Amino acid sequence: MSATATITQTSPAPADILRVEPLPGRSFGARIILPSYAKDPKDLNDADFDRLYKAVHTYLVVVLPGLADLDPTSQYLLTKRFDPTCEGAYGHSKEFRHEKSVLRNDGSSVIKQPQVQILGQGNADGHEGVEKLTLRHPTHMSFHKTPLSEQEMADGYTRFYRWHIDSALYELAPPVITTLLGIDCPSGERQKIKVDNSDVVFESDVAATAFISGADAFDSLSDELKQFALGTTVVYAPHPYIYISGAKATSDGFTMVSEGLETPLDELPPWEDAKIKRLPLVWTNPVTGRHHLQVHGCCIWKLETPNGVQELDQARQTIHSLMTPQLTHDRVYLHDWQKGDLVIFFNRGVWHSVTGQFGPEGHRLMHQCNIASGVDPVCVK
Ligand SMILES: [Fe+2]
Repeated sequence: MSATATITQTSPAPADILRVEPLPGRSFGARIILPSYAKDPKDLNDADFDRLYKAVHTYLVVVLPGLADLDPTSQYLLTKRFDPTCEGAYGHSKEFRHEKSVLRNDGSSVIKQPQVQILGQGNADGHEGVEKLTLRHPTHMSFHKTPLSEQEMADGYTRFYRWHIDSALYELAPPVITTLLGIDCPSGERQKIKVDNSDVVFESDVAATAFISGADAFDSLSDELKQFALGTTVVYAPHPYIYISGAKATSDGFTMVSEGLETPLDELPPWEDAKIKRLPLVWTNPVTGRHHLQVHGCCIWKLETPNGVQELDQARQTIHSLMTPQLTHDRVYLHDWQKGDLVIFFNRGVWHSVTGQFGPEGHRLMHQCNIASGVDPVCVK
């Protein structure tokens, strides 16, 4: 290698740095342009990774285009780099695939890098060495209490499936970030998202991923509700995805309808009180210092509030009332996928949801990675 080539490779010109372009007209979201030396984002030098780290915590959802060929190991290494405390295991434990878990059909693991999940729709036989692989995009039809009618779906309507934070919410600490790679994402077909008892309809490409900023949600609360939120601890159910497996969700995907259909505690896999997650309702952003209202409304069990403990039904009603005001056009960002998009989102600062449903010929292929953290999020008052 020539001396000139060596200098070019190891000393990028001052302007050749990672660039951040905030999405215009939105309170969060940005596009990232990688420096020329880092065709693979795992190769970012420390200064540029620091720019990316700060961008993810500041803009909450960032998009790196043109990475359809990103290797699963690179995606894993990039994801892991965001959290020095994580030991490297996927964000969910083995109960993720339990026969009764509501997550059991959500994809398959990459064999050589099992922290990376293969998600999507349709046949993917042979992908990443998985001989037989049929992917099923989650839909609201099997999860909501009152799904849309066949006619409504034929007319192009759909729902937010389940607003959530990526986390086991039992024993393991929530991942700091999630990376989501669109490998094969047919785009162009449109959908309309609606919920019961609301005139607001959201339009996007079919199966867009929806995001809401937990910081927007906190900032929009009254002073009284901010104090309530800051003083509240969320207690999650033991093995929450199995606990809720018999119940159905509200039409906005924010929480579950209380009908006594949860799995009885003595029918769950063995659990220990010490492993139940008790997390603050408000998580403080370590970069910006902003407070984020962060809760997985479908998996809650109880709330410990300044005014006393709220049991399941009341806890769900409280969380639902805090979340629903966010369903406005300016608060919901719907990411229309382009082939090669790598979306990195601050899992401790946004809520996200699958949307849409595919027809019989529908096809999509994605890789997702998140890693359980070594420490829980905190509320800094
Ligand atoms: Fe998710």
